[in-house]
Amino acid sequence: MSVSGNTPAAEIGVIGGSGFYELLADAEEVRVDTPYGPPSDALMLGTVEGRRVAFLPRHGRAHRIPPHRINYRANLWAMRSVGVRRILAPCAVGSLRRELGPGTLVVPDQMVDRTSGRIQTYYDEGAVHVSFADPYCADGREALLKAAAAAGIEAVDGGTMVVVEGPRFSTRAESQWFAAAGWSLVNMTGHPEAVLARELALGYAAVALVTDLDAGVDAAESVAQEEVFKVFAENTQRLRRVVLGAVGMLPESDDPLAARALDGMTPPFDLP
Ligand code: ADE
Repeated sequence: MSVSGNTPAAEIGVIGGSGFYELLADAEEVRVDTPYGPPSDALMLGTVEGRRVAFLPRHGRAHRIPPHRINYRANLWAMRSVGVRRILAPCAVGSLRRELGPGTLVVPDQMVDRTSGRIQTYYDEGAVHVSFADPYCADGREALLKAAAAAGIEAVDGGTMVVVEGPRFSTRAESQWFAAAGWSLVNMTGHPEAVLARELALGYAAVALVTDLDAGVDAAESVAQEEVFKVFAENTQRLRRVVLGAVGMLPESDDPLAARALDGMTPPFDLP
C-alpha cells in the first residue's frame, strides 16, 4: 500500500506489543522509510471502533530490538507520516510500590528520565525547545481510564514512571532510591518515546502493565526477565481491551497541548 497523497491512512497510533495485530480484521501492512532509517517494523493499518489505527510493535514483531537500540525517532516519524496525530502507548513496567502488584494497570501522569546516550530530539539545529511539564496528554489518559472502567478493569489513575537505560534491571539501591523519591513505576522505553511524540506535535498517553515488583520493594526478589515476559503475556488480553476501547473514546480533534507544542518556534524542516 502507498502512504503518499493527502488522505491520512490512520489517525491514531498504537506502539506496543505484537499481541495487538490479531484484532485487526482488515489489517494492511505498510513499510515506511524515514529520514532516520526504518522503524522497528512495518506498520499495520486497520480499523478499530470505526477509527483508522496504525499499530507498530516497539521491539519489532519477533521482539528482537532491545529498549536501548530502538529507533524511537523513526518510529514516531513513521506514525506521523501516515497521518497519526495521537498515540496510545502500552508498556511493561516494574513496580516501586508493594500495593501496585503484578497485573496492575496504571495510567501514569509523570515521568523521570534516567536514560543515557539515547537520541532524544529531532532538533539538532535551531531553537526548538518544547514544553514537557506534562508529558502525557490529558485526553489520551482520560480515554484509557474510561475504557478500563467500561471494561470493568481496574486502572490506577496517575503515577510517576522512571525510565532507565537498561537493558539490565536496576540494583536494589537504585530501586530504593527511585521509590524514596516518590516514584511508582520503572520502565525502559517510555523515554524518549514520549518527548519525540511531543516534538512532532503528537498527543501521547501511556498505559503501564506491572509485570514485577522491582528489586528495591521490601523483600522483592531480583527481577527476572522470564517472569516479566510471562506476566505480560498473561495480561495481554486485558491491556488490549483497554487500549482498543480507548481508541473509540479519543476525540477526533488533535490533542490541544500537543498541537501547540511548536507554536512560536521554527523547526528546521517540515513535519511529515
Ligand atoms: N520493565 C518491566 N519490569 C521492569 C523493571 N523492573 N525495570 C525496568 N523495566 C521494566
